[in-house]
Amino acid sequence: MTHHKLNIGVLISGGGSNLQALIDASEHSDFPAKITCVISNKDGVYGLTRADLACIPHAVVPHKGLNREEFEQQIHQLLCQHKVDLVCLAGFMRILSADFIAKWEGKILNIHPALLPKFGGEGMYGHHVHEAVITAKESESGASVHIVTAGCDEGPVILQKSVPVEPDDTPDTLAARVLDIEHEIYPLAVKEFARRLTSL
Ligand code: GRF
Repeated sequence: MTHHKLNIGVLISGGGSNLQALIDASEHSDFPAKITCVISNKDGVYGLTRADLACIPHAVVPHKGLNREEFEQQIHQLLCQHKVDLVCLAGFMRILSADFIAKWEGKILNIHPALLPKFGGEGMYGHHVHEAVITAKESESGASVHIVTAGCDEGPVILQKSVPVEPDDTPDTLAARVLDIEHEIYPLAVKEFARRLTSL
């Protein structure tokens, strides 16, 4: 029996290197998903150029000037228009409301640059995560892909991979090592998500 590919909507706010990893993976015929839309809350970010170069429909929904309900309603409509089955957050810097998450229950993935449940939660994003890991003198860090639930960074982890923390690491050197791993595991986590769906 052949299964249809999952339609992915990717939400971004920036450079979109994780988006690129998903684009690259989806170019392989055996990848179980294709990206049908990319939505950014910021205009002019390089992630939008990546979508453009890959001929993927893309849109900007600016959070400024809209209240949270209007902002999320516009995103929801775009995802529906593009028949999205799975939403992938890839450097998306807005926290989604419990209402939005309920509409997409079990169908939103996020990538976090640490080994959850450690170093997650509100305020734990970007360089803050890597600073905290170094301050805590952890010997390893890593990346985690998890299902998004109403609690920030609390949903079940689908896949994670660790990297060593080196004694002379700065937040930037650690971030770069973790980012490489993010690019590796996000497509694998999408594969795993698709596998679980088809084995239901
Ligand atoms: C990544 O570190 C991701 O874990 C975090 O934001 C960064 C996004 O990078 N949530 P990019 O936009 O995918 O290059």
